[in-house]
Amino acid sequence: MAILDILEFPDPRLRTRAKKIENVTQKITALADDMLETMYAAPGIGLAASQVNVHQQLIVIDISEDKTQPLVLINPKIVHREGEIESDEGCLSIPGYYEPVVRSEIIQIKALDREGKKFDLQADELLAICIQHEMDHLAGKLFVDYLSNTKRQIIRKKLLKLQKQRT
Ligand code: NI
Repeated sequence: MAILDILEFPDPRLRTRAKKIENVTQKITALADDMLETMYAAPGIGLAASQVNVHQQLIVIDISEDKTQPLVLINPKIVHREGEIESDEGCLSIPGYYEPVVRSEIIQIKALDREGKKFDLQADELLAICIQHEMDHLAGKLFVDYLSNTKRQIIRKKLLKLQKQRT
């Protein structure tokens, strides 16, 4: 396993639309494992392949407190949504910022698991929010897109400055 580099906003590669995974090969399984390791190390509760510059529809999530319930979603699709919930969201690609975003409160999804098997999942609250946030990444979308232009520009400038200082 390996820790992967996470792209940071405003890196334009985060805007790439992820492609559907046709075959869940060993390469995909290995990527899912590396992404889980990267997410746990960060630490975070969700990571989309887009964030490690792989533009395929793969997400990993673990919202459990003891980090023992990894969830791998391949080609996830929301088939039903209900209600609204607002919460402060953060993102490993936008370090240090937490802003309120409105999401569906309950969602039903269809996806493939780590072995490529189809499954259905109903999620609410934090898990539902997390899945929607990660699915946005696959569509090239970030949580800052829900904020005002002004707010997004401030975050963009501050992160660019930090990124420059690092190199
Ligand atoms: Ni994110």
